[in-house]
Parts: sequence; C-alpha cells; structure tokens
Amino acid sequence: MGWIEFGPDDATTARIEALAEQIAHHSHLYYNEATPEISDAEFDALWDELKSLDPEHPQLRRVGAPVPPGSVKVDHRFPMRSLDKATGDDEVAHFVAETTAHGRRFVAQPKLDGSALSLEYRRGRLVRAATRGSGERGEDVTSNALRIPNIPDRLPWEGDCHVRGEVVMHLDVFRKKYADIAPNPRNLAAGSLRQKNIEAGKGDASDLAFHAYGVLFVPNDEKHPDSPDALQFENDSQSIAWLRENGITPAEEVVVEGTDDDDTTQALLVETKRWTQGRDSAPWEIDGVVFKLDNLAKRELLGETAHHPRWALAWKFPPEEATTVLLDIDWQTGRTGAVTPVARVAPVVVSGVTVENTTLHNVGEVERLGVSIGDKVRVVRRGDVIPKIIETLGPAKSSDLQGRFHADGESFTGELPTRASPHIPEACPECSTELKLDGAFLRCSNLSCPARLARSILYWCRALEMDGIGEKLVDQLCEAGLVNTIPDLYRLTSEQIQGLERMAEKSANNVVTQLDATRELALDTFLSALGLPGIGPELATAFAGEICTMEALINLNEDDLERLVAIEGVGQTVAYSLMEGIADRSEMLEDFNQTLTITDVAKTEAPSGPLVGLSFCITGTLTRPRKEIALQIKAAGGKVVSAVSGKLDYLVAGENAGSKLEKATRLGVTILNETEWEAMLQP
Ligand code: IVH
Repeated sequence: MGWIEFGPDDATTARIEALAEQIAHHSHLYYNEATPEISDAEFDALWDELKSLDPEHPQLRRVGAPVPPGSVKVDHRFPMRSLDKATGDDEVAHFVAETTAHGRRFVAQPKLDGSALSLEYRRGRLVRAATRGSGERGEDVTSNALRIPNIPDRLPWEGDCHVRGEVVMHLDVFRKKYADIAPNPRNLAAGSLRQKNIEAGKGDASDLAFHAYGVLFVPNDEKHPDSPDALQFENDSQSIAWLRENGITPAEEVVVEGTDDDDTTQALLVETKRWTQGRDSAPWEIDGVVFKLDNLAKRELLGETAHHPRWALAWKFPPEEATTVLLDIDWQTGRTGAVTPVARVAPVVVSGVTVENTTLHNVGEVERLGVSIGDKVRVVRRGDVIPKIIETLGPAKSSDLQGRFHADGESFTGELPTRASPHIPEACPECSTELKLDGAFLRCSNLSCPARLARSILYWCRALEMDGIGEKLVDQLCEAGLVNTIPDLYRLTSEQIQGLERMAEKSANNVVTQLDATRELALDTFLSALGLPGIGPELATAFAGEICTMEALINLNEDDLERLVAIEGVGQTVAYSLMEGIADRSEMLEDFNQTLTITDVAKTEAPSGPLVGLSFCITGTLTRPRKEIALQIKAAGGKVVSAVSGKLDYLVAGENAGSKLEKATRLGVTILNETEWEAMLQP
C-alpha cells in the first residue's frame, strides 16, 4: 500500500474503524481515568496510523471524552484573573511608579474585546478548552474550540501547558453574517463558544479566531511523566515568540521601555494614542491597551490580588457617552413584524454626532433598564454602532434640557415631559393586531400590516437596486391603496404614479422602467429580496441552491426538512423559518409566479473528487504556475489555503521552498513534491 489510497478497500475501512475505536478507548483511560493500559509510544503509533489512513477522521479531533459545552465545569489549574483598569494618563503614571522597582520594560498588547479562553495542552495535544467562568472554574468548551480554525489541536512541543487568550469575531464576518441577530461581536463570540448545537441563526465557532496573550507551563512535579520539562523564559516577550513558533496566534505585541518613570509613562501613553487611532481600522473590536511587566521573575515578586495581577494594567478607551433626557418612546413595526421601541431624547452630542433618536432594541430591554419618560439617561455610542441608552439616572430637571441644539444648529425648545412609565403596546401601532411576545420582542403577526408591507416593499426594492423607489414613494403608494402586496408593484402604470404628489411624468416613467427591469430574476435573488424573517441573503442563496425552482419553493413542505437541514450552516430553526415564511405567503407566491419570470438556479453540488476534505498549500518553484495547480486541486474537490498551520493536510513544495516548508516540517504536515502530488490525483 502506498502512503495514501482513495476509495479505501474494505480491509482499510475496517482498520480505520478499529483504530478509531482503540484511540477512543485509550484516550478515555488516559485522560479521564488516569489508568492507561498502553504506553504513550503505542498510543502515538495508533494515532499516527489513523492519521495516515484517514487524516480527517473525527476521532483525531476528539480528545478525552467529548462533552457537550456547558455541561462540565473545569477547575482552572492556574486561576484566570481579571485586570486592573485605568482610563486616565495619571493612572498609567501611577502604575509605572508602583512597578518601577521591578523594571521599566513592558509588553503592550491591544485589549481584545471578546471571550477569554484557556487551552490545556498535554503532551502537546489539546485536551481541554475552558471559558473563564468565575476565574477559578469555567466551562468545558473543547468541542467548539476545536472548530476555531487557528487553534491547533497539537503543538510541535510535546509538553504540558495552558495557553490563555481571547476569542474574537472578525468585524467583517460579524457585519456580513450576524449583525441582525446579535448586539455585538463580543456577545456572539461568547455565545458561539458555549452553544451546544451548531446552528445557523446562532454564531458558528468556525467564524471565530483565537489570539493568545500568555502561556503557563505545568510544573515538573505535576506534568505528565513522558512530557518534556516545563519551559522557563526570562521575559514574557520570549514566551509570546515561542507561542508564535508553535503555531499559535498571539495578540499583536510591542515591547516598550523607558529610561525613567516619566519617560516610561510617556512611552506607554504613545501606545494608548497609537491604538486610539488604530481602533477603527482593527479587524476586531478592541477596548483598550494592556500593559504587562515583561520580566517574569519580577511578576512573581509583585504577585496578585484576588482580582488582578499587580504587574498588569488595562488602559481602556474613554467611553463615548453623554447624558440627556428621555422625552418619549415610540413603537415601530418592522418588516418582520418585530415592534421595536425608539427613544426620543433631547439632542445630545456623542462622539461628535448629534443624537435625537436612539434604539431601545426591544421590550425586554425597556423593562430591564427600568426607564421612565422624563428620566435623565446615559447614552453611549461605540464604534460605528447606533447610539443606545444604557442606564437611567432618575428624574431629570429642567436644567438638564438647557443649552441643547439640534443638528442644524437650531436651539432646542422642548419642555421637560411629565414623568411616566413607558407605555408598552398590546396592539400593533399600525394595524391594531394583538401583539405576541416572542422572546424579548413584541411581534405583529399580520402579514398585511401596513408598516410591515411598506418595509417589505422597500426591502424588495433595495435588494433589487431600484433606487428610484424610496421610503416616501412607498408610503404614498401604500396609503393611496395602489399597492397592497409586493406583486402589485408590477401592475402599476405611469399614470397612476403621476397621480401621486410630487411625481412628474419623467420620474413616474423611471419607476416603471426600473420595475420592468426586474420582471425576470433568478430564484436566489427572488428569495433574498423577499426578506423572510430570519432568512438573510446568504441563507437565501444557500436555500435556492438546494430548492432550485419556483415550483419547488411553492410546494415546500415537511418532507423537505431533511434536505434543508443537510445544507451547510442550516439548522432546524432556520429551516422552519423558511417553511413557515413560504406557507404564510402562498397566495403571494402564486401571484409572483404569474407576474414575474423566476428562473431556476443550478443545484449547488457537494464538492466531489479524490481530494474532498483535504487541504493543500503550495510553495516554491514548480514546473507549472501555482495557479494552475490550485485550480486542479479545487477541481478534484480539495481546498487550497495560503498559510501553513497544524491543520494543513499537505504542503506541495517545489524548488527553493522557504519558510513554509520549514514550518510545515516543524508542524508535522505531510510534504509532497510535484510527482507525489500528481499521483494523488489518480483515481
Ligand atoms: S492579559 C491576569 N492581555 O481582558 C490576566 N488580557 O478585563 C492577564 N484580555 O480576562 C490577562 N486582551 O480575557 C491580557 N492582550 C490582553 C488581553 C486580555 C483581552 C482580557 C482577558 C482578561 C480581561 C480582563
């Protein structure tokens, strides 16, 4: 047998199964019972054999006894402390003065705003990942941590250590996939890490990234007998470099050193300014800068309180907040029927922007905050998100309204409202349908609610890029009774539109032309533009790739559930959202089918070929362009990645391969030359 075979024969399949079973059995004895029956070398041999036969076998990603996240608590071998916080320059100076006897060299890192995670490696294998929890005890989240792409399940150094870091979500991914379902990337990172089932509509751990900020080595008298001795570094910056060399991504760090206290303080403040400027261009959320004494022995001498180490300080960005007065709360019904509270406040400048309306998210938030109309409230605006009320400061005084200006510079002349509890509606403010409580949201279930209709139409027009149709026109069309469903748009005549206020012949004709241009559209575009609750553009495209025709969409039913949940990233909840959304709109869909030409989309083919499930990286000079090789890999079902990590299956290396080859060798990745790689393509 060669080093790899495709379409394994029966004997190989049986061997793979036997190996997986043995590894599961011995892992359990080793990690959970501490009563191993075989030597570590024997265990490693089983592991390596399975890896060579079936590199993607799930057992290789499973260590110890897998537990559902949240169900098992973990006592941290090294407690996970918090950090002492500072916002003012004087507090930084104070910190320098307090630590100065122990040195003036600090590691500065951004303070990542995510969820803390501890990775426990034993003999170089990831055996457990745990959340911070109380600091003494966290939750076992190993199975989700293993889904985070940049967390290696094996280290080249085969010893015992705990790697600490922050799990964050890339802001681009957050905005693209999750902005509608989670208030911020931090909540989503924490939720994805702890969730029991991976389901669309929640966060997926594979969208997260881990950034390490430290490593602690298990002392020799506690380490596994076969593990190498605990490593000892003089400085933290050395241990960060070591992490990087071992395939772990550390948070970006710089070493800052000063000659005296003042000079050191100034150097640290330069870092706070640099990050204040860089904050908005960082790919993930950061909320400050962490300063840590670099010398590890001196850290020991300083010690820690029950809350935080004395050798570190978290400087936090000044909050972008201000106080104002809550004048009123309006309730608005959105496209999906969610009825959300909008707070009207006296004009207030927050980070340079005049705010008069802020969101209160949902009815649950109104109750949680316990705000009353006429209260003085604190408003915060972080990054580029919508400003929000975070707390009430009790009854406002008339003086709280003085010296306020609207955005256009006009003086604010409003009066202090009589203090009153917010009115929570029982019926939809637009159509009077009785509202239902759905989690923290109030919902209007009437599909022909004028507010829902107007917003669905607007969503449709925006999705299809008809920019001649804006909010005003949609309101007018609905109010005049010309449009009662989205398909009604396609029955409008230029004359009817000209009958509306401020619509001249030219703009009316333009509207008709724009509508005509969208009379033919593909199923995926159609489903996206429909804007069903919980079904964003990405999911719509995924569903369309499975459903393919308008006919099949109209006839969707329970029998389709299985194939819907088989789509990557689709769980039961979303599948049901789609089915319900379609069932509720059956009449409208028939109408669409008569009015528009909705074309089929090709079925999204599951990748196939001999390389399915395998990842490749290409480096060095080869006889053919790398791009060509990459295309061939993809055509055979494989994945091409640009970086070498412990999870990479193969590195295709040509002449003069440099750092990638070196790293792959160190991480134990299989290296292929061009001839070997070509052999893999043979069926
Ligand atoms: S050092 C003893 N460095 O902030 C704790 N922490 O508010 C040493 N955090 O629990 C932590 N970025 O989860 C450190 N570059 C960084 C960090 C960082 C984020 C988190 C960490 C900690 C929390 C305290």
